[in-house]
Amino acid sequence: MAQLWGGRFTKETDRDVYLFNASIDFDKRLYAQDIEGSIAHATMLCKQGILTEQEKNDILNGLSQIKSELEDGSLVITDAFEDIHSFVEATLTERIGDAGKKLHTGRSRNDQVALDMKLYIREQVLETDALLKDFQKILLRVMEENTETYMPGFTHLQKAQPVTLAHHFGAYFEMFKRDRSRMRDIAKRMNTCPLGAGALAGTTYPLDRDLTASLLGFDAPTLNSMDSVSDRDYLIEYLSALSTVMMHLSRFAEETILWNSNEYGFVEIDDAFSTGSSIMPQKKNPDIAELVRGKTGRVYGHLIAMLVSMKGLPLAYNKDMQEDKEGTFDAIDTTKECLTMFMQMIDTMKFRKDVMERSAMMGFTNATDAADYLVKKGMPFRDAHSVIGRLVLTCIDKGKSIDELSLAELKEICDLFEDDIYEAVSLKTCVERRLTVGAPGIGAMKQVIEAYREYLKEE
Ligand code: ARG
Repeated sequence: MAQLWGGRFTKETDRDVYLFNASIDFDKRLYAQDIEGSIAHATMLCKQGILTEQEKNDILNGLSQIKSELEDGSLVITDAFEDIHSFVEATLTERIGDAGKKLHTGRSRNDQVALDMKLYIREQVLETDALLKDFQKILLRVMEENTETYMPGFTHLQKAQPVTLAHHFGAYFEMFKRDRSRMRDIAKRMNTCPLGAGALAGTTYPLDRDLTASLLGFDAPTLNSMDSVSDRDYLIEYLSALSTVMMHLSRFAEETILWNSNEYGFVEIDDAFSTGSSIMPQKKNPDIAELVRGKTGRVYGHLIAMLVSMKGLPLAYNKDMQEDKEGTFDAIDTTKECLTMFMQMIDTMKFRKDVMERSAMMGFTNATDAADYLVKKGMPFRDAHSVIGRLVLTCIDKGKSIDELSLAELKEICDLFEDDIYEAVSLKTCVERRLTVGAPGIGAMKQVIEAYREYLKEE
């Protein structure tokens, strides 16, 4: 049990209390950020004449050495220390003596942990953005190959109007675009440096906070020391953005599960991303998609936990805030893993274009177009809607699709039907005529795909 704060105490901390209070088990993940922050702090202390050149060099060399030993495994973090900050400082002091004890001048663990977490999250936010971009590249590839792969579009999970696979996947491309812009918003808004805020009220040492901020890649130092040590907004924003990513993935997962089912048969998930049943030899289960859907709840849970932990906390730092880490780390790991798994599953999935197309033909997805046909022949839309409704009933009765009826059968329902009806309600026509911006018609789709190519080059 090694602590940084024994002086005022006459008794040892109870062992269980020590363990209850300790965070090293999970904040050891922040070792690189803790060291990076200390290097910037020591560099600044020296420039301000608070540390000698020699002390600074000893500190910097000691810290770099600790970092490389942690990385090659020759130094191991144990729970003999309360948290990562204590571990790094104690290890440094053991190695370089008194200079190590001076490192914490003008600093508190409150601004230190705020900094470490910000450095870590800033990196994670950008990594999440990069993963989303990788996923978008796979989506774009599928889109480029499937601008003429017709399939039913659904509302209420009922076949509605025909679309293409490219168009359907484009919807996810858009979702990930928004997810990515949220990541970049967060990275931008959070990029102010809390180091130098001290415990809560700054310090009497002449710290150069602009210098540490710029050494650590921040846009500026934070402007209120009490807020600096107690702000966890950026975590809530990030957890919320991760929850939205997971919400998107869970919708995609649900569709993949449906599409991969025997009933739909639109896709076949690759064997490498499916699992079997221990009892039913015929089974090939979409477990990966199901797990992604399931893990979504876990990420939401961490967002709610964080919001509740922060609720009603008085300024400034409170130990409640130590609870910010485990859930956030788990949410990050979970989302990144889900993104990685899911994009590989999509990348290797087979699309059964014939099944999709047949499904679009059989579901009266061209009924709106048939009504539009009558409108073009002069009938008011409301009447056309009703005529086609009757036509659909007839089709259901006869077990046929609209284009499978003979012209005589069509004329029995409405004599405005002519030979050109077949062309007008063909799947290809129905889709290709949808040329408004953002619609599935190939002409419109190609422009969007071109815009996505540009977007991926830039962002
Ligand atoms: N382990 C603590 C945390 O994660 C570090 C800050 C401790 N500060 C304090 N005053 N106890 O929040």
